[in-house]
Amino acid sequence: MTGERGADGETGTGGGAGTETTVDVHATRRGRAADRLREVDAEGLICFPSRNLRYLTGFTAEPDERHLFLVVPATDHPRDDPVLFVPALYGSQVRSETTVADVRTWADGDDPATAVRDLLAECGLREGRLLVDDTMWATFTQDLRAVAPDATWGLASEALAPLRARKDETELAAMRAAAAAADAAVDDLRALGADAVGMTEAELADRIVDRMEAHGGRGTAFEPIVGAGPNGAKPHHGHGDREIAAGEPVVCDFGTRVDGYPSDQTRTLVFGGDPPAAYAEVHEVVREAQAAAVDAVEPGVPAEAVDRAARAVVENAGYGDAFVHRTGHGVGLDVHEEPYIVAGNDRRLEPGMVFSVEPGIYLDGRFGCRIEDLVVVTEEGCERLNDTDRGWR
Ligand code: GLY
Ligand code: MN
Ligand code: MN
Repeated sequence: MTGERGADGETGTGGGAGTETTVDVHATRRGRAADRLREVDAEGLICFPSRNLRYLTGFTAEPDERHLFLVVPATDHPRDDPVLFVPALYGSQVRSETTVADVRTWADGDDPATAVRDLLAECGLREGRLLVDDTMWATFTQDLRAVAPDATWGLASEALAPLRARKDETELAAMRAAAAAADAAVDDLRALGADAVGMTEAELADRIVDRMEAHGGRGTAFEPIVGAGPNGAKPHHGHGDREIAAGEPVVCDFGTRVDGYPSDQTRTLVFGGDPPAAYAEVHEVVREAQAAAVDAVEPGVPAEAVDRAARAVVENAGYGDAFVHRTGHGVGLDVHEEPYIVAGNDRRLEPGMVFSVEPGIYLDGRFGCRIEDLVVVTEEGCERLNDTDRGWR
């Protein structure tokens, strides 16, 4: 079973470059990325099939063994037009789905490493500091090192993470719709009441996916977490064969996607009976911690202050040791991305940032409780993207 980190249910194809607005969005992002490269003293950026590639072009290929790169030279580089280097079978797709003007193809049977060396030489990018996708497969980073032995290397997130952290209105509209679909699925779960008793965690997970799609979501943003009773004390449990018993708390953490953008929310629910004696208090502490953290969100506040606001409530109630993770994480094309809401992160919040606020208390061998919503930082404070009932009944 998988937790949400690294899991990815995105299946969409096509970049959506079919409207004028989208065309401008991707070209504008490439321009900003080129400017950012200068700010971080890099000469160029090399993406492979990744969320960064999607962000910069709208193209959504899955990674495979073939060489597929986007090369973005820094602003004012002698040759500063982006180039897409793709296997021939992607040529017409890339030309119709992206606005990158310079598309080069290589055929099965060619030696792609030689073609990449020639391309980097033509772009003047065989030396200086180059950034590569953080998730690029080692097989490709090894090839790049071999064809540009005098270059030094960094990660694409240096340039792109700050850009991706602030969402534009199109991204926010998709995330609001994904959150609404997941919220509606929570309401459907609650309506199951005692009918959920006897279902396995896996059956409830299937039901969740079905309901999110019924409410307009596409697939899953990550494999749903359904942690019943003691399984809920493992924050990223996944789901298994345990049958849900009457009165046991069930941590339900799930999300779907709309236009490639995910939701991520958690409710802890009790079906068909009353929970253990300590549970109601624990749930109330988590709810207060979550409210305190959301209240702390406004532009200019350091990310760690939001973590502190939640943690103070949990610590004051005597459960500090049972809150075993950060308060939240940024959410965008990746379900976990910047900004991280964690002690030690003094990065200041900015309007347009979207992140989770998800304190939890986990009592080993007994139960867990987590409440999670996404929020977007606004000019005045914040807006919650999830607003369905947070109670356990
Ligand atoms: N679900 C908590 C975290 O991954 O930060
Ligand atoms: Mn979650
Ligand atoms: Mn989360």
